[in-house]
Amino acid sequence: MREKVQEIQQQITDFVVETPDQLEQFRVAYVGRKGLIADLFDQLKTLPADDRRAMGQELNALKNLAQEKFNTHQQQLEGVTGRVETAPVDLSLPPAPNQTGTIHPLTLARQRIIEIFERMGFNVVDGPEIETDWYNFTALNFAEDHPAREMQDTFFLEKKETERDDVLLRTHTSNVQIRLMERQQPPIRSIMPGRVYRNEAISARAHCFFHQVEGLYVAENVSFRDLKDTLYHFAKELFGADTQVRFRPSYFPFTEPSAEMDISCEMHKPGVCRICGGSQNVCKGTGWVEILGSGMVDPQVLENCGIDSKKYTGFAFGMGIERIAMLKYRIRDLRLYSENDVRFLRQFTQ
Ligand code: PHE
Repeated sequence: MREKVQEIQQQITDFVVETPDQLEQFRVAYVGRKGLIADLFDQLKTLPADDRRAMGQELNALKNLAQEKFNTHQQQLEGVTGRVETAPVDLSLPPAPNQTGTIHPLTLARQRIIEIFERMGFNVVDGPEIETDWYNFTALNFAEDHPAREMQDTFFLEKKETERDDVLLRTHTSNVQIRLMERQQPPIRSIMPGRVYRNEAISARAHCFFHQVEGLYVAENVSFRDLKDTLYHFAKELFGADTQVRFRPSYFPFTEPSAEMDISCEMHKPGVCRICGGSQNVCKGTGWVEILGSGMVDPQVLENCGIDSKKYTGFAFGMGIERIAMLKYRIRDLRLYSENDVRFLRQFTQ
C-alpha cells in the first residue's frame, strides 16, 4: 500500500493541468469521492490496527496534496477566463457598421408619382380600405351583374340586405374619388394612393393585394385634351423625356370615353428594350407597355355624388404602383415586394 501511495503522489505531481477539462479529470481521479485516494482510505480498514495510524497520516498528506493542487489550478483557470471577460476595450478597433435600412421600392415609386402630380397642383387624399359596395362599385356605375363584383375578384367581409351596403375590401382606390366628390364641390384636383385587394392566386404577375395611385380632376371645361396633356407630362417626368406615349380606347364603367395609356419600350441598342432590357418579356416585342387606365368621368358618376354634370366635367386615371416600380426598376416578380428579403431591398438605395 505504501508503494501505491508513492505512485499516486508521483502521478499528482506529474499531472498537467492547463485546461478546464484537465482540471475536471484531475478532480475525478484524485479529489472526488470515487477517486484513487478515496479507494485507499477504504482499504485502511483492512490493515492491522498498528499500521492503520501511520498509513492514515500518509493518506491524509496525499489527500491534501491533491486538494491543494486542485485549488491552485482552479484559481488559475478562473483567473484566466476572468481576465478574458474583463479585457480592456480596444479603442483602436474599427466600429461595427450600423445597418441602415433602405426605402422600399414601392415607397420610392409612390413618392415619385406623388411628387410629379403635386407639382401639377394635385393634392393627396386618403380613404378607407374597408368599404361598402356603394363606394367601391355602385356609385361608380358598376352594373349589378358586373364580373368585378363576383366572389372571385372581391373579398367580401359582410353581406347585407341590400347589395349597396355589403362590406368589402376595396378593389381600387376609386372609392376615395366618390367620397371626395360627396364632400367637396369642384374644383377638385387630387390623387389617391393606397392599398387595394383582389381575390387572386399569388404568382409572379398577380397578388391578393397591391397598391394604386388614382387621380381625379373635376372643374369647369375639363376636356380630354387636359387628360392627355397631364398624363403625357407625367409619363415623360417618370420615365424620361424621350418616352413616347400612346392612348388606346378602353372601357371602364365610371368613365366615358375611356383610354389606356402605353409608354414606348423601343430598342436603345439592337435587342435591348428600354424597359424590358434584353429579355423583351414585358413588351413582348411590341415596343409598348401599358401603364395606366383613364377616362372622362361619366356624368352619371358626378350626379351620384351631387355634382352638377352640366356645369362640371372631369377626368380620372388609375395605375398600379407595383407595375410602375416593375417597369422603372426592372423587377420581374411581384412577390418580391412583400417577402422582405434584404438582398432584394438593399438594392434600392435611392
Ligand atoms: N379603377 C381602375 C382600376 O382599378 C383604374 C381607373 C381609374 C381607370 C380611373 C380609369 C379611371 O383598374
